[in-house]
Amino acid sequence: MPEFSHEQDSLEAARRLDLDDPLRSYREEFHIPLIDGPNGEKRPQLYFAGHSLGLMPKRAREYVDLELEEWSKLGVAGHFSAKHPWLPYHENVTENLAHIVGAQPNEVVAMNSLTTNLHLMMVSFYRPSSSRFKILIENNTFPSDRYAVDSQARYHGFDPLRAVVELKPRVGENSNGMTVDTEQLLKQIHALGDSLALVMLGQCNYLSGQAFEMAEIVKAAKKIGASVGFNLAHGAGNLLLALHDAGADFAVWCSYKYLNSGPGGIAGAFVHERHLRDKSIPRLSGWWGHNKKTRFEMGPTFEPIPTVEAWQLSNPPILQLAALRASTEIFARAKMPALRQKSERLTNYLEWLLKRRLGEKIQIVTPETRGAMLCVRIPGVGKEIESRVRQRGAVIDFREPDILRMAPAPLYNSFEDVFHLVQALQDSL
Ligand SMILES: Cc1ncc(COP(=O)(O)O)c(C=O)c1O
Repeated sequence: MPEFSHEQDSLEAARRLDLDDPLRSYREEFHIPLIDGPNGEKRPQLYFAGHSLGLMPKRAREYVDLELEEWSKLGVAGHFSAKHPWLPYHENVTENLAHIVGAQPNEVVAMNSLTTNLHLMMVSFYRPSSSRFKILIENNTFPSDRYAVDSQARYHGFDPLRAVVELKPRVGENSNGMTVDTEQLLKQIHALGDSLALVMLGQCNYLSGQAFEMAEIVKAAKKIGASVGFNLAHGAGNLLLALHDAGADFAVWCSYKYLNSGPGGIAGAFVHERHLRDKSIPRLSGWWGHNKKTRFEMGPTFEPIPTVEAWQLSNPPILQLAALRASTEIFARAKMPALRQKSERLTNYLEWLLKRRLGEKIQIVTPETRGAMLCVRIPGVGKEIESRVRQRGAVIDFREPDILRMAPAPLYNSFEDVFHLVQALQDSL
């Protein structure tokens, strides 16, 4: 049975869906960029780029201002005597982040940036031998991830052309060249067998929006003795994740997309509990990973914290953490399962309206296992579609050759936004 019926293709119906949405008040907690309306009035932009940079929680300014104020009044003493002391400041976000990615607090830390964390994790979990050295990635992986895995292979003396293996996308009549069936993916892991050292996938894929069956993938990788890690740039704050239960070795993510922590916001990392006390795992170290009780004794020997915090290198940027604190508190109140429920309905509404209004003109690449984002191919469109849609008040993005990405974010997008976006797209085409 279809989730929506033809009467729901109307502004009134979209507004009714908003009235029924128990999370609708969260929109008020965000700054929605304002643009000029047709009669010179200001109106909120139709913002569908949360998969790129999430919007600013209003509270972020208050939390960042507080730390600036503390700095101005306390100087170095802020490390100990600020209202939220800077020394353990990153701990303010740990519990909330753990809930967001489905982990235990000792498995999660906010630190560094995403690509840096990916390298740190590969130092620990990509330990190739002459026979087991391959890394399995998506065929359309994000360039930075590709550069990172290639450079790790090279660093260990392997030719990336041999060491880095791309997933083969689904073939056949309904193939879009961008997604892969679970069964086929598991077969590819199995076929690599003893040569596979690491599976490293984007959850979801940044381009197609496909979400993978994490637990199945971990099980298959473990069965043949490979490590497995996930890049949650497009998953953290978007998908319902269960990193601990799935048994992934590691995960990394940025927080400026669905986690709304601001441009260049501090990233995150997860290491499964089973590795936390394993002294045989190599790790690049810095003083922030050292035993908190003795860190300031400034001793020469590194003594790791018995949590994922041992992977920290430097003292973290407090102003970025303050913004992330504001955002993760919103997630703690709204709760991931409820957000996910709304997100599914919003994205389904978007898909349904797109198909209904644009039909044959478009191909929806994103499969049903997905997060908020839809990847839509429109043969023949060029980059100018982005500005045409923007002139009509909506922000989406274009990727060569003919791909549009758009994500309704359940914290701040409404069904009415979705309705207007589809209208803007239709008018632009
Ligand atoms: C899937 C994926 N990987 C890596 C990156 C790079 O992130 P950073 O510049 O924070 O290292 C991004 C950024 O958008 C991304 O989407």
